[in-house]
Amino acid sequence: MPLENVTPDRFNLFQRIRYSIFPATDDGKASRQRYRNLFNSLLLHFRPKTVPERTLNFTLTWGLGGMAVVLVGMLFVTGLMLKFAYQAVPDQSYESIIQLQNTVLFGRLIRNIHHWSGNALLLVVFLHFLRVFFSGAFHPPRQFNWVLGLVMFFLTLGSNFTGYLLPWDQLAFWAITICTGMLEYIPGIGIGLQKMIRGGGEIGPATLSNFFAVHTAIIPACLVILMPFHFWRVRKSKGLVIPRTPLEDPVVRGETVATIPNLIIRELAVAAVLVALIMVVSVFFNAPLEAKANPGLSPNPTKAPWYFAGLQELLLHFHPLFAVLIIPAATVTGLFLLPYMRYDADTAGVWFASLRGRRTAIVAVVVALIITPPAIIADEFLFDFAAWLPGVPAVISNGLLPAVLVLAGIIGFYGLMKRYYAANKNEAIQAVFVLLLIAFIILTITCIWFRGRGMALMWPG
Ligand code: HEM
Ligand code: HEM
Repeated sequence: MPLENVTPDRFNLFQRIRYSIFPATDDGKASRQRYRNLFNSLLLHFRPKTVPERTLNFTLTWGLGGMAVVLVGMLFVTGLMLKFAYQAVPDQSYESIIQLQNTVLFGRLIRNIHHWSGNALLLVVFLHFLRVFFSGAFHPPRQFNWVLGLVMFFLTLGSNFTGYLLPWDQLAFWAITICTGMLEYIPGIGIGLQKMIRGGGEIGPATLSNFFAVHTAIIPACLVILMPFHFWRVRKSKGLVIPRTPLEDPVVRGETVATIPNLIIRELAVAAVLVALIMVVSVFFNAPLEAKANPGLSPNPTKAPWYFAGLQELLLHFHPLFAVLIIPAATVTGLFLLPYMRYDADTAGVWFASLRGRRTAIVAVVVALIITPPAIIADEFLFDFAAWLPGVPAVISNGLLPAVLVLAGIIGFYGLMKRYYAANKNEAIQAVFVLLLIAFIILTITCIWFRGRGMALMWPG
C-alpha cells in the first residue's frame, strides 16, 4: 500500500481527520507552506500577480470600491439571516420584525447591520462614482466599466428602495406610496408601470410580495453577475488608472509590486475598519420602525427616502412630467453617454482634469451655492408662472418654461467656462457636472431638513 494512504500513528484525532481530507500533509512547515501557496493561488485567480505601485496610493481609490464589495457581502449574509424570521405578508411582516427584534438572539443587531450597511452602500457607491469621475477613470479603455458601474448603482438604489417597504410600518408604506405615485405622471405607460410595480392599483399584499422577490432574489442575482464582470473589466484595462500630476505625461504602468501582500493587506485593513464601524453604529443606533402601516392615515409631511428626496424637491418646482420623467431621463442618459463623448485631452489619472479644471470646479461649486438656495426660495414665494400666464397649460408654464430657463443657464455657464476661463471640453463638462451635482445635493438637503407640514419651507427645529 502506498505510504501516503496510511495515517501515521503519531497523529492526534484532529490531524487524522485533516489527513483524511488532505493526505500527504504530515510534514509540518512544508505542508503549511503548501496550504499558503494554495490559498494565494486561489486569491490570485481573482487578481493579477502584480499591480502598479502607484495605484496602491490610498488617495486614488480611497478604498471605496473595496468597501462596496464588503458591504454587499455583509448585506447578503445578514439578508439571508433576516429571511429566517421575516414574513412577506402585510398581516405578519410588521409583527415578524417586532418578534425578530424582541425574541430572536441578536435579531435586532442583525437588522441594524442590514439597515446601516444598505444605507452606507449607497453613500459609498456614490462616492466611488465621484472618485471615478474626478480621477478621469471613465476614459478609454474604462468606458464600459463606467456603464456597468452605473447599472450597479441603480441596482443598489433599487435594493434600498424595495427593502424600505419590507418592515411595513407607516414610514415604509407612505414613502413607497408617494414614490410609486410619481410614476402616474409618465405619459402613456405611467399607470401601467405603476400597476405592475404595485401589483395592482393600491399598495397591498401583491406589492409586498413583488418587492420581496425583487429585493431578495432578482437584484442580488443581478449583482452577483455584474460584480465579477466589473472586476474583470478592471483587469482587462490593465488595472486601475495610474494617478499622475497635471503636468505629467500619461504613465503606462510604472513600477509594479506583488499583489500579495501589498494590495491584500491594504484591502483587509479597510475591510476591518469598515466592519468595525458598521458594528459600532449598529450597536448604538437602531434601524427605524414606526407604527404599523395604516393605509387610512397618512403622515404630514410624507417624505420619500433620503436618496429620492432630491427628486421629491424637484417635483415642488417643476410640472411632474418634467420632474419625474424629462429631467431624470435626460440626466441618466447624459451619465451613460459621458464616457463616449469626444474630449479635448486624455485626463485619465489627473484629479479634476488639470490645474484649470480644479479652478473651474471651485467656481462651479460657488455658483451653485449662490444660485440654488435663492432660486428655491424665489420659486416658493415669488414665482408663479401658472398665475402669470393664465390660459397656458401647466405643462408649459410650470414645466417647459422653467426647464428652458434652467437649460439656458447651464448652456450660459458652459459658455462662460469656455470663454472667460478658456476651459477645454474636459474642464467645461466637469464644471457643468459639479454645478448640477451641488444643486442636486442642495435640493436633497432642502427636502430632508427644510420642508415641514404640507411640504412648506420651514426652518428646522
Ligand atoms: C455596487 C457597486 C460597485 C462596486 C461593488 C464596485 C467595485 C469596484 C472595485 C472593487 C473597483 C476597483 C477598486 C476601486 O476603484 O476602488 C472598481 C473600479 C471601477 N469602478 Fe466600480 N463599483 C461599483 C459601482 C461603480 C459605479 C457606480 C461606477 C461609475 C459609474 C463604477 C465605475 C468603476 C470604474 C470605471 C472603475 C475602474 C477605475 C480605475 O480604473 O481607476 N463603479 N469598482
Ligand atoms: C445590495 C443588497 C441589499 C441592500 C442594499 C438591502 C437593503 C435593505 C434595506 C434598506 C432594508 C430595510 C431595512 C429596515 O430599515 O428595516 C432591507 C430589508 C430587508 N432585506 Fe435587504 N438589502 C440587500 C440585500 C438583501 C438580501 C440579499 C436579502 C436576502 C436574501 C435581503 C433581505 C432583506 C429582508 C428579509 C428585509 C426585511 C427585514 C427588515 O426590514 O429589517 N436583503 N434591505
